[in-house]
Amino acid sequence: MASQKLKYTTPGMSEADATRVVTLLQDRLYACNDLHLTLKHVHWNVVGPHFISVHEMIDPQVEEVRGFADEIAERIATLGGSPVGTPGALVQERSWDEYSIGRATTQEHLGGLDLVYQGVISSYRDAMNELDDLDLVTQDMLIAHINSMELFHWFVRAHLEDKGGNLSTHGATNESDAALAAGGATDATAAVAH
Ligand SMILES: [Fe+2]
Repeated sequence: MASQKLKYTTPGMSEADATRVVTLLQDRLYACNDLHLTLKHVHWNVVGPHFISVHEMIDPQVEEVRGFADEIAERIATLGGSPVGTPGALVQERSWDEYSIGRATTQEHLGGLDLVYQGVISSYRDAMNELDDLDLVTQDMLIAHINSMELFHWFVRAHLEDKGGNLSTHGATNESDAALAAGGATDATAAVAH
């Protein structure tokens, strides 16, 4: 991702540090915009006996992640940058694949979301760690986002966990495998079809 030339930044920050922070924030903006759209896609496509609980569990998180995107974009502008919020740029610049599951059971989508959240939270934590030496104000903002996302990730994982604490998706490296593992034998054919 090309970094922006800043005309000004917030007082007390070097231009070099601010430029790097804006680059980190732009990647988080892509991640949040992708995530809230993906969450709505899941909200619309879940089926099965637990439809209403999972359908309704997702919407408050959509609102939170939309709020994160807004905070990130406004922090970019505060630092003198220009946030990029258009979908074409997101698709061009993102380093992850499109969410691949269509209409599927609640368990299959929750298995897929477990993988999505593993990716988003890991990349958020990488940015948080790098910000240690760059900008604690931006880091503080991202820490609050991570706290909310990790809580929601637990909601997801609580559906995938047995009473021994084992996750059905353990060891899965992509959404399809996670959906297959989470859906169980009876749903395996449906998951493969996606
Ligand atoms: Fe809805």
